[in-house]
Amino acid sequence: MKLLITGGAGFIGSNFILNRIEKGDQVVNLDKLTYSGNLNNLVSVQNRENYSFVRGDIGDKSLVRKIFSECRPDAVVNFAAETHVDRSVIDPESFVRTNVLGTSNLLLETLEYWKSLSQEEKAKFRFHHISTDEVYGSLGFEDPAFTENTAYAPNSPYSASKASSDHFVRAFHETYGLPTLISNCSNNYGPRQFPEKLIPLMVLNAIEGKPLPIYGNGKNIRDWLHVFDHCDAISLILEKSKPGECYNVGGNSEKNNLEVVAAIINVLDQEVPRPDGKSYSEQIHFVKDRPGHDLRYAINADKIKKDLGWTPKFNFDQGIRETVLWYLANEDWVKNVKDGSYQDWIKKNYEER
Ligand code: NAD
Ligand code: TYD
Repeated sequence: MKLLITGGAGFIGSNFILNRIEKGDQVVNLDKLTYSGNLNNLVSVQNRENYSFVRGDIGDKSLVRKIFSECRPDAVVNFAAETHVDRSVIDPESFVRTNVLGTSNLLLETLEYWKSLSQEEKAKFRFHHISTDEVYGSLGFEDPAFTENTAYAPNSPYSASKASSDHFVRAFHETYGLPTLISNCSNNYGPRQFPEKLIPLMVLNAIEGKPLPIYGNGKNIRDWLHVFDHCDAISLILEKSKPGECYNVGGNSEKNNLEVVAAIINVLDQEVPRPDGKSYSEQIHFVKDRPGHDLRYAINADKIKKDLGWTPKFNFDQGIRETVLWYLANEDWVKNVKDGSYQDWIKKNYEER
């Protein structure tokens, strides 16, 4: 396939590109390179003939139009977004700009391009929007998991902006017939995640002897999905499902934050024991909670299992071990992402907690 991938320098997008380049796809990666976009994620493919990179914004009309006319993709996979809930609390506007206005611009330009295709090309074309389970809001401990029919009830500026973009995607299918797809997945983990998110933050803070900041009482639950499993699900949906479909994608692995941190500590205590012989759990530090902190997310992934035969391959213990080892083994990658803007963020988010 010829793919236009947006946000491909980020965590999930780069893992997806590495996977698709190996399959022989032609990939154009449009990425603004915000703080979380990192071309080091893609060094292994940067000189491949079937890969090219354009630095730019999905909200830039003329640039997006030019890319469509030059590369003429068979599909768009939209990963580009502002993605961190804590940042959305401090700066909601940038989430509106990229996630709402940027996505709607990308849709408009996709529609113009799609209209210019032959009937056969039109029928094969797909616009796949990558979304999150956070659009469904928060569950109680005993509530059933989110299905594709759960009503949207976003609670953070991040999830509100993603919900809005999902609605635009749906509307472009219903109104104009654009062959769209949406997948809503749970929390991803794995290699190449920017270390402001829970798992890489905890690994790196631990080995640097810094506190491990747990928001509130640490009992909030997320469902954890390995990024490789997520990429496989995206490929299946892209290649096999009908236009207009939505799929929930989950890791079948609900854990509270204290359990996640304990699993990380378990690996670190075995692999890189502290010089004083104590456990890294000594560094756990409870801090002020996130405002509007969703209690629990859980995914019912029956639809994608039934329609497309997808199930996650990783179990959490195996996945978390490999992930921790990846961050330990990739010191240069870590050094590169922890620049001045990263230090500024850490100060802003944790200093007053
Ligand atoms: P990320 O923050 O690691 O990457 C986002 C990428 O988008 C970066 O490379 C960034 O430079 C780029 N970008 C940001 N604004 C842009 C713009 N205006 N134009 C072009 N590029 C822009 O995020 P991620 O974790 O890889 O998430 C990718 C997608 O998956 C997002 O849409 C996110 O909402 C969704 N998602 C993520 C998770 C998760 O756990 N990480 C879970 C569910 C859904
Ligand atoms: P995060 O990785 O930011 O993902 P999301 O908020 O999108 O689920 O956070 C995962 C969970 O970890 C969430 O319940 C908030 C919590 N958390 C902490 O307890 N401490 C931290 O320093 C961070 C970044 C997150």
